[in-house]
Amino acid sequence: PTIHVITPTYSRPVQKAELTRLANTFLHVANLHWILVEDSQRRTPLVTHLLRETGLNYTHLNVETPRNYKLRGDTRDPRIPRGTMQRNLALRWLRETFNFNSSQAGIVYFADDDNTYSLELFEEMRSTRKVSVWPVAFVGGLRYESPKVNAAGKVYGWKTVFDPHRPFAIDMAGFAINLRLILFKPQAYFKLRGVKGGYQESSLLRELVTLNDLEPKAANCTKILVWHTRTEKPVLVNEGKKGFTDSNVEI
Ligand code: UGA
Ligand code: MN
Repeated sequence: PTIHVITPTYSRPVQKAELTRLANTFLHVANLHWILVEDSQRRTPLVTHLLRETGLNYTHLNVETPRNYKLRGDTRDPRIPRGTMQRNLALRWLRETFNFNSSQAGIVYFADDDNTYSLELFEEMRSTRKVSVWPVAFVGGLRYESPKVNAAGKVYGWKTVFDPHRPFAIDMAGFAINLRLILFKPQAYFKLRGVKGGYQESSLLRELVTLNDLEPKAANCTKILVWHTRTEKPVLVNEGKKGFTDSNVEI
C-alpha cells in the first residue's frame, strides 16, 4: 500500500530545517505520498520549492487557521488545537481523490513536522487493517506513553499518567489508519471545537474504531519507533529591529 503521510506546517524560522529533516527521512520509505498542508493563506514559495526539489511524491495544500482561533486562553474562542484544520483538509482531499472501488490500497499517518521518525515505523504501519497503534516517546511527562497490550495481543487500555481514561489516550504520532476506513466513514474528522487538551486524537478515532479493533505494532508496543521531539526556538536577538543578515537569503 501507499503510505499517505499528512503533515501540517506553518511558517517560522525553523520551518525549512524541519521539512528538510522530514523529507530526508521520507526519501528512504517506499511508496510514500506526502500530503503537506500549510497553515497559511497561500502556498508559500519556500515550501513549493522545497517539495519540488525533494523528488518525493507529494500533494501541496493550504488552509489558514483563523487568527482568533489560535489564541490560547480566550474563553470566548476556545483554541483550535494546532494543525487540526490542516489535517481535516487532507482527510477531505483523500476522500475526494480516492473511492472504495479504486483498488488503491493505502495507509494514512499524521506526522507533525517536528517529530523524529524511524524507518522501521513505516514498515510496521504498512500492514494496518483498521487502526494500528504503538508507543510514542516524550509525551505526557513520561519517557514514553504506550497502549497496554495483554498476552493475547489485544489493546485493553493506556499506560499514561495524563488522563488514562480518555477513549484513546494516544498522541497523534502513535497510530495509523487504513485508507479504506477513512473512505468508509466519510463524516469522521477531527473535532474543531470543545475539544479538551489531549482529546483531539480521540475525537477522530472514536468515529472510526473501538478499543477492540486496535492492532498493536512495534513488537506488541515494546519498541519505540517515534519520538515527540520539539525543536528549540532559535535566538535571533542580534538581528535587531531591522534585521542584520540579508533578508533575501532563505533559511
Ligand atoms: C501536540 C501533538 O503532538 C499535536 O499532534 C497536536 O496537534 C498539538 O499538541 C495540539 O494539540 O495542539 P505539539 O508539539 O505541542 O504537539 O504541537 P506542534 O508540533 O507545535 O504542532 C503540531 C503540528 O501542527 C505541527 O506539524 C505544526 O507545524 C503544525 N502547526 C502548529 C500549524 O500548522 N499551525 C500552527 O499555528 C501551529
Ligand atoms: Mn510537535
